[in-house]
Amino acid sequence: MRVCVIGAGYVGLTTGTVLAEFGHEVYCIDRDEAKINLLNRGAIPIYEPGLTEMVMRNKKQKKLYFTTNTIEAVNKCPIILIAVGTPPCTDGSPNLTYLENVIDEISKYISSHKTIIIKSTVPPGTNEWVDEALHKKGLKRNLYDIVSNPEFLREGSAVSDMLHPDKIVVGVKRPEVIKTMQLLYQNINAPFIFTTLNGAEMIKYASNAFLATKISFMNEIARICDAYNVDIKDVALGLSTDPRIGSLFLNSGLGFGGSCFPKDLQALEHAAKQKNIIPEILIAVQNVNTTQINLYIDKLLQEFPSLKNKKITVWGLSFKPNTDDTRYSKALSLIEHLKTSGADIHAYDPIVTLNSSPPICHKDIYESIENTDALIIATEWDQFSKVDWKKVSELMRGNIVIDGRNFIEPYLLKRNNLKYIGVARP
Ligand SMILES: NC(=O)c1ccc[n+]([C@@H]2O[C@H](COP(=O)([O-])OP(=O)(O)OC[C@H]3O[C@@H](n4cnc5c(N)ncnc54)[C@H](O)[C@@H]3O)[C@@H](O)[C@H]2O)c1
Repeated sequence: MRVCVIGAGYVGLTTGTVLAEFGHEVYCIDRDEAKINLLNRGAIPIYEPGLTEMVMRNKKQKKLYFTTNTIEAVNKCPIILIAVGTPPCTDGSPNLTYLENVIDEISKYISSHKTIIIKSTVPPGTNEWVDEALHKKGLKRNLYDIVSNPEFLREGSAVSDMLHPDKIVVGVKRPEVIKTMQLLYQNINAPFIFTTLNGAEMIKYASNAFLATKISFMNEIARICDAYNVDIKDVALGLSTDPRIGSLFLNSGLGFGGSCFPKDLQALEHAAKQKNIIPEILIAVQNVNTTQINLYIDKLLQEFPSLKNKKITVWGLSFKPNTDDTRYSKALSLIEHLKTSGADIHAYDPIVTLNSSPPICHKDIYESIENTDALIIATEWDQFSKVDWKKVSELMRGNIVIDGRNFIEPYLLKRNNLKYIGVARP
């Protein structure tokens, strides 16, 4: 099948590449010329394990193309998949301008039937709006089908998640389009969940809201455990054996960041309020997440009543490991807090280097902690669990290590004269 993917970001680039891997002929479009030029030169604008090799292979086999030419790609392809960003507006609602612009543009070029698949995360009612908008622009209804097909991939394991999803959610208006979706994804061994357009949009928001709730719930429990000297890891283990609870997403730490959970919770809260519903749980989940960082700042201030001129090193800048994405990263929020304290801030991340300073970003993990007073681990990159703690201890001036992800074994630090500080890790 010929597929045109509009928006070659984390979702669009991965989706387009995997569809090419499945044998489809894919045209990835982005309005960002620099990004398209980079992709055409054989470089990948994002860090995503396994993606580079797959892009190269499919480009070479002439199954994957990158272009800024929307008209040509739309003319060629009966399937148009839209994966543009939907970042938050100041009132919490998602900014749908990028989607609106795409709809406006492609509507001019549609002269034969198109299946228009919306992968971007959008609030309930948006796909219906797209359907109506195209009709209002003069397109006959038999010229297009709108499909809501939200994406569930996780950055850091996006390729594998696209190849092996646990479900494919498809919201349709006309059942006839189901066959097209089955053909598009015929190489994937996962159950389809067919629903309405609004149903698919809600499944995506409810999934992210539920996962974020698990994180904030565990962070709240960790606060209580901390006060009672209880190890949150024991509690998580105890919970994980109950199949009704499950074993995933029971970790506690600095909280969730990234380009999805924070904005999707805000968007769902906004959508609820539009219908005069006060989403009490969603609001509490966000409040716990926002204030979680204070716990760590308080613990740091217990060690150093003033941070002025103290050298503080932050390990991990991306919002989670195995990605270069720093959108709404907790590490960056932490650095913003530290900036107001007069601390001398340094940082190390295996992939990310920030353009602005502070923090001073180091290329070498050990160089980043030379003469440092305190180390804060903000992202659980695997590399951090494998460091030589003896060397860390020798290089640091102080001995404070704050584990913002509760993922280092405290005894590894203690035996090297380092003081381990987590939340609810007695
Ligand atoms: N990133 C994730 O992990 C993830 C997971 C699931 C769902 N989503 C959702 O998928 C959507 C895309 O997210 P992302 O992280 O890939 O965003 P992104 O910002 O990485 O990519 C969006 C791309 O769209 C391009 N674009 C914008 N307007 C365009 C236009 N008119 N024509 C062509 N290209 C255009 C931008 O230049 C950019 O490259 C969002 O709605 C997001 O919520 C993201």
